[in-house]
Amino acid sequence: MVTASEEYNFTSFSNLPFYTKVNERLLDLAEVGKQRKIVDLGCGTGGITKLILERLQSAKDTVIYAVDHSRTALKAAAEEIGERKDVAIKYVHSEVQNLTGAVKDKVDAVVYCNSIHYVPEKTVLVDQIKETLEPNGIFAFNTSFYEGSHPDDSLLFFRKWMMRSLRILKREHGLSADKSAKVSSRIQLKAQDYVDLVENAGFKVLVNDFNRVEVPHEGWHHISGFSDWIEGVMPGVPLDVGREALQKGLGQIWDEMELKTVPRLWLSVSAAKI
Ligand SMILES: C[S@@+](CC[C@H](N)C(=O)[O-])C[C@H]1O[C@@H](n2cnc3c(N)ncnc32)[C@H](O)[C@@H]1O
Repeated sequence: MVTASEEYNFTSFSNLPFYTKVNERLLDLAEVGKQRKIVDLGCGTGGITKLILERLQSAKDTVIYAVDHSRTALKAAAEEIGERKDVAIKYVHSEVQNLTGAVKDKVDAVVYCNSIHYVPEKTVLVDQIKETLEPNGIFAFNTSFYEGSHPDDSLLFFRKWMMRSLRILKREHGLSADKSAKVSSRIQLKAQDYVDLVENAGFKVLVNDFNRVEVPHEGWHHISGFSDWIEGVMPGVPLDVGREALQKGLGQIWDEMELKTVPRLWLSVSAAKI
């Protein structure tokens, strides 16, 4: 039987080729192929863990700590990855803000894909990451949730998509979103705030850039089936109803605007512990 949280997980989105490309670049920045001990922070259902595994030059002697606070996501990751005899993968159930309590080892790299925007206590988190790294260890993260991540030429699409979906929600389900229930991932920092955050924690920023990513229809479609996204754009709405309204609204607006892709900016930062 599929449970609610399995049904609304991130897997279908994270397997899309455009998303893999975004994250492969971050793994390049973290020089993952050269590292022996790696933390995959906020690993979710293991999409990034699989990409890390593909890159390991010598899997022998390598340890990956896959950390997430969702037991369901960790279980899905372990099932997806299966048994590996050549590499130790430790699935760690923890809040990322408690990293030093959960991972006692010192590691060469911490990769943190598309999750940093969830955490309100970012200073505590970055201090914990620094503490977990060896000297010269690399912390690399990316996010498409920051102020300015919506390029100007995507704004009309978003406005129309949200208005249409909310209208469908009202007309077909008699429901409205509850804006007072807005979640922390929707409260966004500026890109410079992220850079300041790591510099203030004593890291040396190596790369800090934005990539314009053309997101296809299937990207918006699958993200509309992810619980965190539904809760972000339609707070307080039951997941099944929210997904249905968002996907229906998307299909209509996509056709009406004759879209091929809609762009999004991804911030990538890599920093070394000094
Ligand atoms: C959008 S998914 C990203 C998954 C994966 N990193 C990727 O890019 O494919 C975000 C993940 O962060 C986890 N997460 C969010 N807040 C967390 C926290 N405070 N502690 C641990 N995990 C957290 C969620 O459970 C979810 O699995």
